Amino acid sequence: MYKILTVIGARPQFIKAAAISKVIIEREDVFEVLVHTGQHYDKNMSAVFFEEMGLPKEKYNLNVGSGTHAKMTSEIMIQLEDILIQENPDCVLLYGDTNSTMAAAITASKIHIPVVHVEAGIRSKRKNRPEELNRIITDHLSSILFPPTKEGEINLKNEGVFYNPSKRVSNDNPLVHNFGDVMYDNFIRFKSLLGKRKGILSNLNLTEKKYVLLTIHRALNTDNHSKLTKILTAVNTLSLKENIKIIFPIHPRTKKQLDADELKEVKEMMHQNNNIVLCDPVSFIDMMILQDNCKLIITDSGGIQKEAAFFEKKCIVLLESTPWKELVSSGVLIELTL
Ligand code: UD1
Repeated sequence: MYKILTVIGARPQFIKAAAISKVIIEREDVFEVLVHTGQHYDKNMSAVFFEEMGLPKEKYNLNVGSGTHAKMTSEIMIQLEDILIQENPDCVLLYGDTNSTMAAAITASKIHIPVVHVEAGIRSKRKNRPEELNRIITDHLSSILFPPTKEGEINLKNEGVFYNPSKRVSNDNPLVHNFGDVMYDNFIRFKSLLGKRKGILSNLNLTEKKYVLLTIHRALNTDNHSKLTKILTAVNTLSLKENIKIIFPIHPRTKKQLDADELKEVKEMMHQNNNIVLCDPVSFIDMMILQDNCKLIITDSGGIQKEAAFFEKKCIVLLESTPWKELVSSGVLIELTL
């Protein structure tokens, strides 16, 4: 029996892992042990995805919670090392670009357990973003890499990460294979359920095609108060000028920042605008419903940018650059420099 040890910790990883775990459950020759780092811990950031998407319960929860990058990364590494030695899996399966991903890649590769990286090769070409550092480190330590796009494959090749078929697979000679995007697999799997569940639209009093979906959570936007003020002021103006509702599920990081004294005025401005609907983070299916029925998406999330393309929606990206260059050239994404 082949043993895969999967390490996940943040919302986008629960979503990606759901697509692969479903397939692993159906097989008799592969067995999965799930480790949840606890990077995301609120019910609406974690448990709701396990329930809704049928992820198996984790065997270990490291409960690392929040902290500085080094604190979070080191706590994951210390706890995970013991688990890896005890479980001795055939490989460690990782997703995306979070601190949990990088911490697990370093820990596993140091004790010679092969690392498999799903969503490899993605680059924003901005090393001031923690996610970019996590991507580069994880990719260069992995033995098997699954870039979701052609561009991802090219990025890896440019960094010397490619396979030489005359040699054994290892992290010195990694296997790189573009099998497509697990998020698209989720899209196909859950799209068929959308017709039956529209509750979120009536709960939030939204009319189809008459609202804009907004998400903001990147530290570069949220922790820079003048930038966050600019974004929210622009969104407020858009909603008043166009008389359109803005639905804004607030990530915990953003919520914390909005409680700062400096942002009191902008928070007050939003509360006075009846067109701005603030709510807690929503489940995967509710997010799909919100995407499917909106007029426009404004986001700094890597995943939502891609899903905008799946739903054929225009999307304004609140980042200096996006890793999904194909979506800019195809006209789905509009990059906005603030
Ligand atoms: C992380 C990832 C990012 C991913 C995002 C998805 C890194 C460096 N970044 O960013 O790539 O797109 O997750 O959401 O790993 N918090 C709560 N409750 C929770 C989760 C977080 O209150 O359930 C708070 C934390 O205490 C922290 C803040 O939100 O203060 C940010 O969480 P953190 O995990 O540091 O990063 P994200 O911004 O979520």
